[in-house]
Amino acid sequence: MTQRLSGKVAIITGAARGIGATCAEIFAREGAAVGILDTNETRGAAVAAKIASEGGQALFSRCDVTNAGEIDSAIQQVVSALGSPNVLFNNAGIAVVGGVEELSEEGWDRQFAVNVKSIFLVSRRVIPLMREAGGGSIINMASESAFVGFPMHPAYCASKAAVVHLTRSMAIRYAPERIRVNSLCPGTIDTELYQEFLAQQADPEAVNAEILRLHPLGIGQPEDIAWAAVYMASDESRYMTGTPLMVEGGITAM
Ligand SMILES: NC(=O)c1ccc[n+]([C@@H]2O[C@H](COP(=O)([O-])OP(=O)(O)OC[C@H]3O[C@@H](n4cnc5c(N)ncnc54)[C@H](O)[C@@H]3O)[C@@H](O)[C@H]2O)c1
Repeated sequence: MTQRLSGKVAIITGAARGIGATCAEIFAREGAAVGILDTNETRGAAVAAKIASEGGQALFSRCDVTNAGEIDSAIQQVVSALGSPNVLFNNAGIAVVGGVEELSEEGWDRQFAVNVKSIFLVSRRVIPLMREAGGGSIINMASESAFVGFPMHPAYCASKAAVVHLTRSMAIRYAPERIRVNSLCPGTIDTELYQEFLAQQADPEAVNAEILRLHPLGIGQPEDIAWAAVYMASDESRYMTGTPLMVEGGITAM
């Protein structure tokens, strides 16, 4: 490994499994101390233990990113154990499936609370710490679904488009303080979230085949996204802010 994140403290939300867990492991191998915030205690603790067993530094803190009080105490825990964060990766997300006529009002609200409001809640606590440290990098997890109107999950698509635009607004506001804010837009990545999404479809095999057809490079792996996140977290991307970085297997070129 090349230690591209040496000396940095990174908070990653939703890092107990999937893309977030892989990012936590790769960030740690690249030299970052990683604060893992997630509701899944067993899996979150296991990711932190794996990082420690490889000689890295990590702390798991149980935190629901829609709960302001839990966010406050989790961030305090990370700061006392690892130091002040230079990187925040707002990765936690859920996918609420169902068309406009089938969705419940609660489902719609939950979709926006986890995917969008959480970014506001966590960022407002981390930004003052980054300001004090003279800058930082915030990565907001968006999706190909911000740009492609998939019919199976309109609330998810709308939430990810909101993430892209929230990111632009934050980027402009905080650029003078050297706090960069970018969104990351993966294509379809083979995680438990994707398998759960498929399981909710009437014909999972047909939906999977259609998704494969739409991506010139096929379905991606969590590592494919983690390396883009390393670039966004590192000083290599120091002139980049407000940008949706597409790592989507070519779907938007179709
Ligand atoms: N997998 C894909 O195809 C894909 C594509 C584009 C974007 N994304 C986005 O990437 C992110 C991660 O996706 P994934 O596939 O790894 O999902 P995943 O379900 O495997 O992992 C998501 C993690 O977030 C955590 N989480 C959910 N709600 C939370 C909450 N309220 N508070 C704290 N933690 C919470 C879960 O416990 C889980 O550990 C999501 O934002 C997702 O929308 C995924």
